[in-house]
Amino acid sequence: MLKLTHSCGSLRGSDAGKKVSLAGWVSSWRDHGGVVFIDIRDISGITQIVFGRDESADNEELLERAHLLRGEYVIAVSGEVILRPEGTRNEKIPTGEIEVAVSSMELLNTCRELPFDMKNMDAVSDEVRLKYRYLEMRAGRLKDNIIFKHKLFQTTRNFFSDNGFLEIETPFLTKSTPEGARDFLVPSRLNPGNFYALPQSPQLFKQLLMIGGFMRYFQIVRCFRDEDLRQDRQPEFTQLDLEMSFIDEEDIKNILQDYVSLLFKELLDIELKTPFPEMTYADAMLRFGSDKPDLRNPIEIKDITDIAARTDFKVFKQAAEKGVVRGIKLSDAEEISLSTIAALTKEVAPLGAKGLAWIRHREEGLHSQITKFFSQEILSEISERFDTVPGDILFFIADTEEVACKSLSYLRDRLFTPDENEFRLLWIVDYPLFEKDSDTGAWIPIHHPFTAPNPEDVELLNTDPGSVRSRAYDLVLNGSEIGGGSIRIHSMELQKKIFNLLNISDEEADAKFGFLLKGLEFGAPPHGGFAFGVDRLATKMLGLSSIRDLIPFPKTQRAYSPLSGAPSTVEFEQLTELGLKLDVPTKKKED
Ligand code: AMO
Ligand code: AMP
Repeated sequence: MLKLTHSCGSLRGSDAGKKVSLAGWVSSWRDHGGVVFIDIRDISGITQIVFGRDESADNEELLERAHLLRGEYVIAVSGEVILRPEGTRNEKIPTGEIEVAVSSMELLNTCRELPFDMKNMDAVSDEVRLKYRYLEMRAGRLKDNIIFKHKLFQTTRNFFSDNGFLEIETPFLTKSTPEGARDFLVPSRLNPGNFYALPQSPQLFKQLLMIGGFMRYFQIVRCFRDEDLRQDRQPEFTQLDLEMSFIDEEDIKNILQDYVSLLFKELLDIELKTPFPEMTYADAMLRFGSDKPDLRNPIEIKDITDIAARTDFKVFKQAAEKGVVRGIKLSDAEEISLSTIAALTKEVAPLGAKGLAWIRHREEGLHSQITKFFSQEILSEISERFDTVPGDILFFIADTEEVACKSLSYLRDRLFTPDENEFRLLWIVDYPLFEKDSDTGAWIPIHHPFTAPNPEDVELLNTDPGSVRSRAYDLVLNGSEIGGGSIRIHSMELQKKIFNLLNISDEEADAKFGFLLKGLEFGAPPHGGFAFGVDRLATKMLGLSSIRDLIPFPKTQRAYSPLSGAPSTVEFEQLTELGLKLDVPTKKKED
């Protein structure tokens, strides 16, 4: 093949007169009678090359061969850089001042008929895009996103290394690491009937690294979780995982704030406001109905349970006895029609809301179907609580706290379109250590069972476990949880107590996490850490709608790869070798 001198994005006006060689893919093709223009593309950009303009070459033969080229054929060309004539320059691309007059061409490969128009990827279905992911990468935004992630990784490695962290690997073929999802299991041929679990996170091993004396660890690591997929979830995803010894929450938050600020500065040239604000979990739920509020949205929830208890409206009165009545205000809402309200009511129904009460503030006062149940004093109190003015509308949910939070948080997001160029970060702290499983009523950890309780609340472990606060902290960016972490339990006694509360017997704890528990008994230092969901973080930084837009080879919602066909059935012999027998009929995957 020709020795290349330049990439397709590198030539400028100042290169005019140079003899160069380029290689790439045929991106577009135009025949101007006697000359053929081709845009040749590689990862760095596009250069226009011209056949039929080099006096010294056999133009007839070159033109004949140029006519045989098709989209995505792979070619290498040599020729002279010439300035494009005035009026034909292309301001839109960096190489737009020049073109290359081809003197020789090598055809390196052909390309089959394309499954779609690569210049109009928006028109292509997700399934087909994933199937031909390499074509999508070659041309479009996906390539830029993947390059962005590379830069993010480089900045990350430099930052943590500069701050004394060591990059250390942890095993993939391991035991279950509980992070709230199902495990992916891998059968062991050498140990029939035994399975490895792919890690949901390196949690247990990074704690062992602290016990091993590495005081600052980080890793850019794949994690595996078998859970229902959504826009911001994939079965395998990347964490930036870290752990530190002899630190407290402030130390970790400070270093992470420096890291996130550096990422925004280096990758987007954006100065973030620091310190990032902090909010307790309880406050976030009360004011925004969510533990990951989007602070770009100014709408806040207000509680009116106390007022509702004094009304004659049955729905409000009953809810005030057993649950809550909360609402939000939307300003300049004259255009919200009854049919919009009916539609919103339908939208919140799947969240458990049995209705959606509303009150408008008109010039003549508060008005709605339900105001007849309220005295003038009550109406004034409501108006005061929300600070209403004419044009506003209030929406109320009277229900359990959980339904009110979920529904109003949904409506908050639904009724406000945030500015895509704004970035609001927020620490959520003081999470409860446990929550009740709604099906079994058992305590389950909100983070993972190795999270330390707030020392002020340790006594409550015996009397009121539900109100024990944890030493966990999550970082939220524009309404998405981009990472979470905690100070860990480093005392074996306390760890055992937590397991007891979680109904994990000594035997079960020993079987599942015995290797960590043993480590805790051998001089475990106080330690804590954090993990970013790198895909979520980068998705938010780039304003993308799905983490799939950043993952080179993602899976569909059904955890299927249209490209490789994974997961797939295996040979009978492979199962036998593993000592496995299938007890279920093989289900057909999506095609
Ligand atoms: P956690 O379970 O909160 O914490 O995970 C950390 C971050 O990883 C991201 N994340 C995901 N991203 C894409 N697809 C998924 N399926 C997915 N699941 C989680 C989220 C989340 O904030 N070991 C602890 C961290 C620690 O305590 O140090 C852990 O894994 O952005
Ligand atoms: P009803 O008395 O059922 O006709 O409801 C009167 C108004 O209250 C309607 O606008 C309903 O949508 C609303 N509503 C009913 N139940 C609730 C509830 N649990 N929370 C909020 N609004 C409700």
